[in-house]
Amino acid sequence: MNEASTLAGHSAIYPGSFDPLTRGHLDVIQRAAAIFDHVLVAVVVNPQKAQPLFTLDEREAMIREAVGGLANVKVDHFRGLLADFVRHREATVIVKGLRVVSDFESEMSTALMNRSLSNVDTVFLPSDARWSFVSSTLVKEVYNLGGDVTEYVPPAVLKVMQSKRPPPRS
Ligand code: PNS
Repeated sequence: MNEASTLAGHSAIYPGSFDPLTRGHLDVIQRAAAIFDHVLVAVVVNPQKAQPLFTLDEREAMIREAVGGLANVKVDHFRGLLADFVRHREATVIVKGLRVVSDFESEMSTALMNRSLSNVDTVFLPSDARWSFVSSTLVKEVYNLGGDVTEYVPPAVLKVMQSKRPPPRS
């Protein structure tokens, strides 16, 4: 294969609230890093859903530690429209994980809106079956009620969760 026929590289943005990063998120990052030349994990400053449990600094630091071994993965944050951030960073693709069919319903319209705004497409990676039921929201609920979340978050996240608010003992 000569140089002219080499496929152009892709810079992917993987956006999210990551409040906190789960093992499902980490799995998507690892697989995206194996597909794309560069992956930028983009933490939204103010999630739409609710006041985050973790500060922006905590969320970014936990992700940085969790992805430490991946040379082509970087972490940053953004405010406002994802489409503006994608254009600003000259990303060529947005990556989203899909766990269940209901994810697809909302992610499809979001992907179309983002493409309309930025001309950048979204690539969906199916979540690994092991993590298809794991969400940040459920992890926080289990943790706040004293449950063990060791299985669902990377060690870097568990460490911060335990130091921040030790779960009540039953
Ligand atoms: O982890 P989440 O909460 O599912 O991530 C949602 C996120 C941050 C990807 C989404 O809320 C987002 O892109 N927010 C930025 C605001 C924006 O661009 N809204 C229009 C989307 S069409």
